[in-house]
Amino acid sequence: MTRRPIGIIVNGVTGRMGYRQHLVRSLLAIREQGGVPLPDGTRIWPEPILVGRNEAKLREIGERHGLTEWTTDLSAALARDDVEIYFDAQVTQQREKAIRQAIEAGKHVYTEKPLAEETAAALELARVADTAGIRTGVVQDKLFLPGLRKLKRLIDGGFFGRILSVRGEFGYWVFEGDWQPAQRPSWNYRSADGGGIVVDMFPHWHYVLEELFGPVETVSAHIATHIPERVDEFGHTYPATADDAAYGTFELAGGVVAQLNSSWCVRVNRDELVEFQVDGVEGSAVAGLRNCRIQHRAATPKPVWNPDLPATENFRAQWSEVPDNEEFDNGFKVQWEAFLRHVVADEPFRWDFLAGARGVQLAELGLRSAREGRRIEIPELHR
Ligand SMILES: NC(=O)c1ccc[n+]([C@@H]2O[C@H](COP(=O)([O-])OP(=O)(O)OC[C@H]3O[C@@H](n4cnc5c(N)ncnc54)[C@H](O)[C@@H]3O)[C@@H](O)[C@H]2O)c1
Repeated sequence: MTRRPIGIIVNGVTGRMGYRQHLVRSLLAIREQGGVPLPDGTRIWPEPILVGRNEAKLREIGERHGLTEWTTDLSAALARDDVEIYFDAQVTQQREKAIRQAIEAGKHVYTEKPLAEETAAALELARVADTAGIRTGVVQDKLFLPGLRKLKRLIDGGFFGRILSVRGEFGYWVFEGDWQPAQRPSWNYRSADGGGIVVDMFPHWHYVLEELFGPVETVSAHIATHIPERVDEFGHTYPATADDAAYGTFELAGGVVAQLNSSWCVRVNRDELVEFQVDGVEGSAVAGLRNCRIQHRAATPKPVWNPDLPATENFRAQWSEVPDNEEFDNGFKVQWEAFLRHVVADEPFRWDFLAGARGVQLAELGLRSAREGRRIEIPELHR
């Protein structure tokens, strides 16, 4: 077995996503399985170089996982010949600058979403990357969730007939931080620091809608900052300036209407933290992160509206579970493997910077729609 080592800078590795999903669940998991196999028997072998601001934290992570390469000096890491890929899981605001630096150093770039805070900046990154001739990728992890994979299987199999609508509920209660610590970093609640649920979630909704149901043609959104004051990691009270809930309606090519609620101010009365109900003429489905339930037209009950009588049917029990029928790996890891094959073996990879820029565009136009109180058409983005 020939190993093909590939140096990968993991910047922001001390953060929630950088550490858990990208380092541990993806790159180290790939090493544990013996690398990414290529058709000629070679195995791509990630060599992570941990980059961040705090040397002690980097050293601690390195020692915990037997990794010897870490540095607080991004420029020095980018100057190394054995580094081929720059990966960014920093806070969103720091991303654009670091990615530019990586492109200038001639590295391929893979990054967390959103690619940038504004469409123009995201598009510019796509242009600069094209000119430099490097490979790019943006995380679109939700596509690889078992629940959504099963949903895609239903769509591909023609289960729904004509699809009419998609209704998505995403959210949970994020504690304010006073009497119980918040379970998300405080920058998410300050717009000056790149926070806000629209910037966070609309890039996800863009690729989910587009890949499953069709291109998004219009957006109309109402946003709110329901909790005006929160308490940060250091116990300081701060004004929450970013949107913490977004109520969006999206019209898709082909006539499908999608309504997606995203909120950090709801308590969960669902089976999963995100669920999408899809209604089609022939059948309906409710897909979450892992599970997917269906009801075919032939098994659809005929409720009659009569508020004088108590409900006698257990509507939720009238749905059936879609079986796995395959093994689902961690979605972040599956996408890493695809990006590594793209870089090393030239395999196609369509979730590039332009795809990432379209996600940023949906967030930007969603915010504009909320500000201006109107529905906004989404122009096509070109390189
Ligand atoms: N794909 C997903 O499902 C998903 C989920 C959550 C977050 N994200 C994205 O991942 C990125 C990181 O989010 P997170 O939740 O891991 O955040 P986090 O706050 O846990 O981690 C942020 C990382 O950036 C570093 N950093 C660099 N410069 C910084 C600065 N000036 N201020 C603060 N931190 C700085 C931190 O040290 C840390 O390593 C964000 O862009 C976010 O949009 C993606």
